[in-house]
Amino acid sequence: MRLPLLIALASSLAGLAAGAQAAPARIIPAPVVDTPLEGGYQVTSRTPIIYPPGDKDAQAAAQRLAELLDRSRGLKLSVRPGRPQAGAILFKRGEPTGEAYELDVGASGAVVNSSGAAGLFYGATSLWQLATESPGKGPVSIAGRHIEDAPRFAWRGLMLDSARHFQSVEFVKGFIDRMAMSKLNTLHWHLVDDQGWRLEIKKYPRLTEVGAWRVPAGPAAAADIDPATGKPRVIGGYYTQGQVREIVAYAAARHITIVPEIEMPGHAHAPIVAYPELGSSTPPPATSGDWGVFPYLYNVDEKTFAFLDDVLGEVIDLFPSRYIHVGGDEAVKEQWKSNPTVQARMKELHIASETALQGWFISRVEQTLNARGRRLIGWDEILEGGVAQSATVMSWRGIDGAIIAAKLGHDTILSPAPTLYLNHRQTTAPDGLPGRGQVVGLREVYDYEPMPTALNPDERHHVLGVQANLWTEHMRTEDRVALMAYPRAAAVAETAWSQVGRKDWKDFADRLPAELERSRSLGQPVDETALQVRALGRPVGQGATVILLGAEDVGEIRYTRDGSAPTAMSPLYRDPISTPLGATIRAEAFRNGQALAGGSTIKVDARSIRTRASQDLKTCREDLVLNLEDDAPVRGERARFLIDIMNPCWIYEGADLSGVSQIEVAVGQLPFNFQIGNDVEKIKFRPPTTPDGELEVRQGSCEGAVVATLPLALATKSQGVTVLRGQIDGSAGGPRDLCFTFTQKTVDPMWAVDRVTLIAGADHGG
Ligand code: ACM
Repeated sequence: MRLPLLIALASSLAGLAAGAQAAPARIIPAPVVDTPLEGGYQVTSRTPIIYPPGDKDAQAAAQRLAELLDRSRGLKLSVRPGRPQAGAILFKRGEPTGEAYELDVGASGAVVNSSGAAGLFYGATSLWQLATESPGKGPVSIAGRHIEDAPRFAWRGLMLDSARHFQSVEFVKGFIDRMAMSKLNTLHWHLVDDQGWRLEIKKYPRLTEVGAWRVPAGPAAAADIDPATGKPRVIGGYYTQGQVREIVAYAAARHITIVPEIEMPGHAHAPIVAYPELGSSTPPPATSGDWGVFPYLYNVDEKTFAFLDDVLGEVIDLFPSRYIHVGGDEAVKEQWKSNPTVQARMKELHIASETALQGWFISRVEQTLNARGRRLIGWDEILEGGVAQSATVMSWRGIDGAIIAAKLGHDTILSPAPTLYLNHRQTTAPDGLPGRGQVVGLREVYDYEPMPTALNPDERHHVLGVQANLWTEHMRTEDRVALMAYPRAAAVAETAWSQVGRKDWKDFADRLPAELERSRSLGQPVDETALQVRALGRPVGQGATVILLGAEDVGEIRYTRDGSAPTAMSPLYRDPISTPLGATIRAEAFRNGQALAGGSTIKVDARSIRTRASQDLKTCREDLVLNLEDDAPVRGERARFLIDIMNPCWIYEGADLSGVSQIEVAVGQLPFNFQIGNDVEKIKFRPPTTPDGELEVRQGSCEGAVVATLPLALATKSQGVTVLRGQIDGSAGGPRDLCFTFTQKTVDPMWAVDRVTLIAGADHGG
C-alpha cells in the first residue's frame, strides 16, 4: 500500500538511521522514499519493456526509457504492448497520481507505476538513472529497490534568455530534453529584450526583420564587414511560428510547459527600433549590443495597447501555457516623466505617479490575458504599481517580493539573485566562463531553501515553486549556456523536487559523479572548471609553496610529484606544498575514489609562481564585478578579464618583490557597452600623462608610491591582448600588496588587466 508521503519519508529516514547500509540510489533529484531491497536484476538487449495495450501515455514513457538506455548505454530494448511477464520492465497504471510514481526493481523485473502520464514519465527517468549509476555500455545489473516519489513544488523551472544571445532550435530542444532528465517541468522562455525580439509575429514583421539582428558592440565587430552587404556583420535570429509550435510540442512530450515572456513596458529597445511609434521618446536609431538597463519605454497610447493585444493574441495561440510572463522589471521612468503626452494621459486617468502608471499598464495587459483564459506573471516590480491578486509574482530582487506577494494573496515563484542567477560564474578559476563576477558555486545553489520562513502555513500555499535564470549577456555560444547551467541546474532540480528532509549536500555530492558520467555519456556539456584542480604559487627562499584549489565542498584533491597521473590512492592534499623550482605537480579531485573531472599538470617555475591572472587578483571594490570576454578576435578564443567596471582597479595581494626588477602585464581593452545611466559619472580615473595613458602600479595600497608605469601606446594599436613590460622598483621586497590602475580620459574603451608576472633577477630572459 502506498503510504502518505510524509509518513513514508519518516519511515524511510528511520530505516536508514536503523543501519540500512546500502548506498542511496544515485538519482537526482533524490526520491522521497528509497528503500534498498534484496536481489536485483540484469537489463539486457533482450529485456522487453511492456505497457498496457492502448495506453498512449504508458507507451510514451516506455519509449522514453528505451530511448535513454539506447543513447547512454547503447542498449536497444523492444517496447511493446502486452500482459505483465517476469523479467520484463513493466509500465502500469496504479495508485500514485499526477507527477507521483512508484518504482520497484527486484529479481522478477522492474515496475513503474502511476496513474499519471507525468508520473510514468518520471518513473522511466528514475529507472534510467538506476541503470546508469555506473558508467559503461551494454547490459547492466540494477540492484533491488522500492522507490516512492512525488515533487515538492509544482513549478520547477529554468529561464532561458534567447534575447541577449539567440540559440538555435536544436539547442533549445536539447536544453528541454535535458531539463526533463532532472524532472524540471517549466521552461520560462525570455523571448524579448532590449537586444532582440525573437518571436515571429505575423502582424508585425519588422519586430523580427529589424529587431532580431544587431551588430555586436565594439570596434572588432564594427570592422568585421559582411561581404554580402558591405556592412558590419550582424548576429541574431528568431523563431518562426512553425518552429515554436514544434518546440512547444517537443516540450509537452517531455512534460515541460513553456511559459513565454514578452517584456513590457521597459526592456523594449528592440521593438521600439522596429516600430518607433511605440516609444515614449525620440526613437533609438538602431538595435544595440549594449548591456544593462536601457531607458526606452512603450508609450501608453491606445494604439500601443492594440499592438500589445495583437502580439499577445499570437503568443496565446502559440503557447498553451496557463501563464504568460510580461516582464515588468527595470522600467526606469524618465521617458514617461519627460513626455507631455504620457503626462497628459496620467492627468486624464487621475494617475498620480509613473509607478502607478506602470501598475495601470500591467493591469490592462492582465485583463487582455484573463479575457483569453490566461494568467499574468511578472517580475516582482509588478507589485510596486499595484496589480490584481490574480497576478503571479516572480521574486528576483532577493526574496522580499515573494514574501510581500504571498502576504497579499498572490501566487509567487522564488527566483532570487544572485543564488539562482546562473549568469554568475561558478568558480574563481581563470578559465571559468564569462559572467557576473560574484561566484555562485554548486553548493550555494544546492543549499538554497526556497520557502521563506516569514510566511505562515496559509501564505506558504502561494509559493508555487522555484526557478533558476540563465541570462545570456555573457553567454555568446550555446555551449556556454549549457556549461553555465550544468551541473548547477541539477542542484536546482533537487531543491524544486525533493522533500526538505531528503536534501543533504553530502549525499548529493555522493550522487554527483554518476550524474556527471550520465551527461558525458550523452555528450552533454558540464562545466568542469570548478571540479578541476588549479594552483597558486609563491616564492619561498630558493623554492616555492604551492596552494592547490578546486572542487571545494565536492571532493578531495590527490596529487603526485613524480610526474605520474594521480589516483585515488595518491597523497591527499591538505597543506600548501613546499617544492623546489622546476618541479611538476599533477593533481586531480576525487569523491569516494571516483575522479570528478580531468587532472591538472602544474609546472612550478620562477614565472608561474609570480604570475596572477585577473581572476586571481582582488578587485579594489565590488561595485559591478564582471568576468568579461574581450571583443577581439571576432572569431576564435578571446581573453577573459575579471573587472569591476565601476572601478577598474586590481590588487595583487602579498606580492613578493624581493629580487624583482621587471614586471610584465598583459592588458586588453573592452568596449564600454553598459547602459548604466548617470552612474557612468561615478567612474573615475587618474588623468594620463602621455597621450594614450598608462598602467600605474602602486605598492602598499592604491594611494601608495608608484613603483612601475607602463605606457599604453603600444597596446592601443591592438584589438586583442598586449603584453607590456617595464621596470619595477622592487627595493621594498615583500610581501606587499600591489595596486593596478589605468589612467584614461573616458570610459570607452575600458582598459583591463589580463595577467601580471613579476620577473625575478634570474629570469630576465622571460
Ligand atoms: C531581472 O533580472 N531583471 C529580472
